[in-house]
Amino acid sequence: MNNDEIQITWNYHNGTKHPNGIFLMKPHFYDPALRPSPYKIYKTLKGISLPLDRNPTSSTLKTISGVIGQNESDNLPDLQSLGRILYFSSGITKTISFVGLGEFEFRAASCTGALYHIEIYLVCGDIPGLEAGVYHFDPKEMKLDQLRKGDFRGVLVKATADENYVKHAPVILVYTDIFTRNSIKYGTREYRHTFWDCGTIIANTLAMCNSHHFRTKVIMGFLDNTVNSLLDLNQEKEVSIALIPIGKANPTGAKEPTKIETLNLPTEPLSNYDYDDPEIAKIHLASSLTSPEQVLSWRSKNTSIQSYKSSTNGVVLEPKISEISRETPIETVIIKRGSTRKFSRESISFQQLSTIIHYSTRGVCIDFLQKYGDSIIDMYFIVNSVENLEPGTYYFDKKRNYLELLKEGIFRNEAMHLGLDQDIPGDGSVCVFFMTNLEKILAKLENRGYRAAQIEASILGGRFYLAAYSQNVGATGLTFYDDEVTEFFSPHSKDKNTMFMIVLGKK
Ligand SMILES: Cc1cc2nc3c(=O)[nH]c(=O)nc-3n(C[C@H](O)[C@H](O)[C@H](O)COP(=O)(O)O)c2cc1C
Repeated sequence: MNNDEIQITWNYHNGTKHPNGIFLMKPHFYDPALRPSPYKIYKTLKGISLPLDRNPTSSTLKTISGVIGQNESDNLPDLQSLGRILYFSSGITKTISFVGLGEFEFRAASCTGALYHIEIYLVCGDIPGLEAGVYHFDPKEMKLDQLRKGDFRGVLVKATADENYVKHAPVILVYTDIFTRNSIKYGTREYRHTFWDCGTIIANTLAMCNSHHFRTKVIMGFLDNTVNSLLDLNQEKEVSIALIPIGKANPTGAKEPTKIETLNLPTEPLSNYDYDDPEIAKIHLASSLTSPEQVLSWRSKNTSIQSYKSSTNGVVLEPKISEISRETPIETVIIKRGSTRKFSRESISFQQLSTIIHYSTRGVCIDFLQKYGDSIIDMYFIVNSVENLEPGTYYFDKKRNYLELLKEGIFRNEAMHLGLDQDIPGDGSVCVFFMTNLEKILAKLENRGYRAAQIEASILGGRFYLAAYSQNVGATGLTFYDDEVTEFFSPHSKDKNTMFMIVLGKK
């Protein structure tokens, strides 16, 4: 299967559309009482305790919108800062008891079904407090398990075809997905959740790295098999999704070993279910990259999509600009964040909405976008109740920081329906749909373009969560009826596909 056989992506995407996608027709049963363990436990490794410092640092709005440029910072991570980055990305932030189901540990970032199928690994040279090695982050015990001893960063430099940020990074995080932990509930649609739930975590990681002034970039183009082998993954069950190099030091002198030994380290079962979805395996394989030349050519594609000229019927955003540094710190927001289960139908202010949109959308430093501020995602809004803003549907013109009015009217019932007939989008103040022109993206980035579009949308969605909570606005990710969303915003959105959805509002 090749990356250019894009029919495979279309089959997957169309086959997992709500309500009638053929892959969603397969009967399956999930008993929440038999929820898979959300922790990967290595049976024989002792682990190194991570320090946990939850003290607040920088303002959320600053950390989600800023970027550390080429020569702006030579701050380097140590064990202390890594503990913070990992905890505020994927650590346990609260425990809630549910009758009949027991205690659930909730994490720093939102995750479909609270199934927590994304794992984080760390590949580093010698850094203060931690020797060179390959590690797995255990959020349950707040520790790092050492899988390999020695400097293996050279493997990742090679796997990313000498990517500049990877080459200079003292530490590289690798995000993986254990499919069955989530597919047991969501079936084949799980592969979308791979990126949704990885993206919300990455939004936190990027913000935390900014708060420490570490240079970062999201890397989506890499040799899948090499990275998976380095992490000793059982690739039928768990695969690498994204890399994040952290910090800028001298280029790594680490040599690529001639052979990566298989470890087969024993773990507790990755999930209590042993069903591997063939359609997920198929699209993942078809979007894998297999040679350094392919990685290089993938990342060199020009992803810019013709800019659209919006009409003059709309409003310019009015975000908070002054004293942004004094806004709620990122750590405080992450601790208090949670998905809002019930909205009150009260209005949020236009300034709150403007601030959330403005600071969430400044840019994502990611390998398939040529420069910070570029994007392959378009945003469409249903406004139910925002002070001083006509209810209706809107398109966000990022260049002008402008909401173009598409259709005036009250669309609470339609919103409710589009969000899979749940009350949440009807009761919320605003629904946001992150869309892309998948046809154009696949023409440029082939099957791996699907991963690219999903992850960028989800990182933006994760930022909306953070920005909302920083403005005392509630938020929740939501799932949706794909084609009906496209129809609803048509003709404007007629060639676009929804990648992610979030609802904002008062609790
Ligand atoms: C992409 C995405 C889609 C979601 N879809 C729904 C949904 O359709 N209905 C719902 O009630 N919650 C939905 N959620 C919320 C999750 O159930 C919630 O994140 C999870 O229970 C973890 O709780 P927390 O976000 O409060 O930490 C979604 C979350 C995400 C990230």
